[in-house]
Amino acid sequence: MSTPQVVRSADELRSALAGALAAAGTAGGGTGVPSLGLVPTMGALHEGHRALADAARAENDVVAASIFVNPLQFNDPEDLRRYPRTLAADLDLLGAAGVDLVFAPAEADVYPDGAPLVRVSSGELGTRYEGASRPGHFDGVLTVVAKLLHWAQPAVPAHFRAYFGQKDAQQLALIRRMAADLNFPADIVGVPVVRGADGLAESSRNVFLDPAHRQAATVLPRALYALQHRASAGAAPDLAAAVALVEREPLAELDYLDIVDPRTLLPLPAVDRPLEKPALALAAVRVGPVRLIDNLMLMPPA
Ligand code: PAF
Repeated sequence: MSTPQVVRSADELRSALAGALAAAGTAGGGTGVPSLGLVPTMGALHEGHRALADAARAENDVVAASIFVNPLQFNDPEDLRRYPRTLAADLDLLGAAGVDLVFAPAEADVYPDGAPLVRVSSGELGTRYEGASRPGHFDGVLTVVAKLLHWAQPAVPAHFRAYFGQKDAQQLALIRRMAADLNFPADIVGVPVVRGADGLAESSRNVFLDPAHRQAATVLPRALYALQHRASAGAAPDLAAAVALVEREPLAELDYLDIVDPRTLLPLPAVDRPLEKPALALAAVRVGPVRLIDNLMLMPPA
């Protein structure tokens, strides 16, 4: 395991990436077009992030990760304050995954004039589901991701890919739309959800769950898998039964559970008959001190 090089400013990032890509392009005497994989994170890394780094490592010559707890996407100052900061452990995880470079800027480097006046708008899609309970959250996410993509954009001819977890399905859908709508020259790659042995999706917030709350939280994947089981058996997904399952868990408070189009995240018009095409089951619950989200693709029988 080697420790990744850590850079703090955008200038250092650009020059380190240019050097690494130039070396990769001429490695072995080759003249091929090198590739860069970027893994944006807020730190507090877990196995879900490890999967992002592994995917980026497998597909690119040079891999960079960013660690920045973005204040713009927190609408609750208490949530921002208590977000875990674990830089040393994060660098160990990224080093073990073979990440070459870590961009870990200070807030003043990212927002030198304070909170930006002009931001990327997440539009109507950013106001539903997660956006409904976290106003402005997705504008904050898109604004920082736009900045990271600009900063990491290779200055030499190179393939550029950026990796995001499918667990944050709405975030991923919005980043894909931003990249397409605003012509970012990066491929946006979605990486499957990583789950613990009990089915709970990996999340930086799981550390706040005590054993009783963790057990209660597993009602979320259980409800999603019940929907998937019915869909893949050719039955109508029973949304009401899945909702009732979550509502029977005394420690869980359901925010939403819905079946949506995977690309637009618009609710399917009818979920009372078997699916004709893949759909996404999307849910959020509050369990004790933590709000958890999860999702699962529902596939009709082949
Ligand atoms: O998913 C996250 O960790 C963050 O929302 C991201 C994409 C790094 C932007 O701050």
